[in-house]
Amino acid sequence: MPKATINNQNIAYESKGSGKPVLLVHGFPLNRQMWREQLDALATSHQVIAPDLRGFGESDPPVGDVSMADHADDLAALLDHLAIDQPVAIAGFSMGGYIVFEFWRRHRNRVSSMMLVDTRAGADSAEKAAGRRESAERVATEGPNFIFDGMIPSLVSDQTFNGQPDLVKAIHTMMAKSSLAGVVAALHAMANRSDSCDLLREINVPVTVIVGAEDAISPPAEMEDIAKSLQNAEYCVIPDAGHMTTMENAAAVSAAMQKHLSA
Ligand code: MLT
Repeated sequence: MPKATINNQNIAYESKGSGKPVLLVHGFPLNRQMWREQLDALATSHQVIAPDLRGFGESDPPVGDVSMADHADDLAALLDHLAIDQPVAIAGFSMGGYIVFEFWRRHRNRVSSMMLVDTRAGADSAEKAAGRRESAERVATEGPNFIFDGMIPSLVSDQTFNGQPDLVKAIHTMMAKSSLAGVVAALHAMANRSDSCDLLREINVPVTVIVGAEDAISPPAEMEDIAKSLQNAEYCVIPDAGHMTTMENAAAVSAAMQKHLSA
């Protein structure tokens, strides 16, 4: 797997296909494999780039704090490394969406369009942020497994949880590739992230908002509000899926992304 040295850390990434560039940003505590099916489907017509964010998958564990802005800057540096200077279609899933908002704040001239997948525009409530900070302390002493085990039931629909043990196992295996330092840094970064509700009105590129019909983490009603706040948005509900749409109903997400890219 190729790696780019960015800010003295190795960032693993996959780049597949040729054509207009599409950048896929994964969620927490996952890695680029969550986009496996979309990466392969979109690479038939585009250059698809999917990194493992610092601390996740095959990328190096971070040293110290990593903010959403740091991740956004890593993405820009990765595009530089790949000599991609034309604007890209950027897709962010959940925490990846929080990073896409920072990417827009810092590098908007590099964005041709956006796909916001199962994500949220609002910042954490004080209570939610405090819970994340407590979890980060616990991870530092106990390791991250309690986070992974606690998250899985809310990541997928009941139907997936009860009926697709292999998919649930694949998500757990992906999570287990996250470094302890990566999980701690991401919990702090999510707790500290900016509210992006006002930013939505400024985003003047086409956006497709994609959400699982049974997403309990970024529910459809909240994502529909995101779509309504944007200047130019399509809203797409994925049936038979909870939060992990890209894996639970991979074909429907790929089709929504292909439609976005061909518009
Ligand atoms: C994710 O899927 O990236 C996380 O659930 C995001 C979050 O915890 O806010």
